[in-house]
Amino acid sequence: KIPLIIDTDPGVDDAFCMLLANSSDRVEIRAITAVAGNVPLCHTKENARRLAGMMGLRGTRVAAGAEKPLIVPQETAEMAHGKNGMGGLELPETDKELDLLPAWDVIYEECKKAEGEMQIVAVGPLTNIAIALLKYPELKGLIKHLIIMGGAQTTGNHSPYGEFNVWADPHAAEIVFQAGVPMTMIDLDACHMSYLTDEEYDTFVGMKNRYSENFFEFMAKREEERKSRMAGTPFAGKHSPPDAVTIAALLDEDLFTYEWLPVSVETHGPCMGRTVVDYRNREGKTPNCRVVRGADRQRFVNLFYKMAEVYAK
Ligand code: BDR
Repeated sequence: KIPLIIDTDPGVDDAFCMLLANSSDRVEIRAITAVAGNVPLCHTKENARRLAGMMGLRGTRVAAGAEKPLIVPQETAEMAHGKNGMGGLELPETDKELDLLPAWDVIYEECKKAEGEMQIVAVGPLTNIAIALLKYPELKGLIKHLIIMGGAQTTGNHSPYGEFNVWADPHAAEIVFQAGVPMTMIDLDACHMSYLTDEEYDTFVGMKNRYSENFFEFMAKREEERKSRMAGTPFAGKHSPPDAVTIAALLDEDLFTYEWLPVSVETHGPCMGRTVVDYRNREGKTPNCRVVRGADRQRFVNLFYKMAEVYAK
């Protein structure tokens, strides 16, 4: 099994990411580390704890991390995720406890234990990962692969070029991109290529399972409201929770095709948070990131259907 850490700011689509990860018998979630992002840390750590409890992840460590971005002022995304991050859904209480150590120490300890096999899926601002890499310089050699949900090859969703996660902490993102860790960027354009149609989403929600009532059906109602907000955007008629797409890239290596390219992050000015992909390598830098170039959308749909089947048992 692939040892996995999910660094996350739950977040509605973060919850989809965790549920999808946990439906796979190919991964073992060793830790869930919470970061501030979609909503403040007080909510993201609580949601992470409750989601871990809901999924029965007894042996998985859940730790709280950064409360604020490294340098820029904090901005959150309640508009998309509601005040509590779960769109108003009250997740079931749990006796699952938060780790006594902060996220960066848990990340380091778990990577050390995994002896070079650890994969990290980071679906929030990259503050925890940047702090971990700064605090433990040897950490970069212990991460087998890092897959992030972040960035955009064309336009942003939070500013003209800024995708929310990278935009929310651009300095952390730049530290992570330049750290020398093998990494994959599942950016907004990749998410546009990998989605469920309205019909497929309805089919998925109709596949009753143990999380239908306390999660998927509630989220389906929210998607109805989201439809009007998305009208006229590239996401209209597409159900593509970005963080779930990101874990899907780990679960199915053939979902996307990739190219290794040099990528850097703009940390100031009107393009702050932009992920600059040097497609023609004009700057002659060593490629540091796998960038998505194509997708086989049906594979994503299949993973969702499979998740519903697994949880129906
Ligand atoms: C990303 O930002 C957040 O709102 C989502 O959870 C996702 O990680 C999409 O830009």
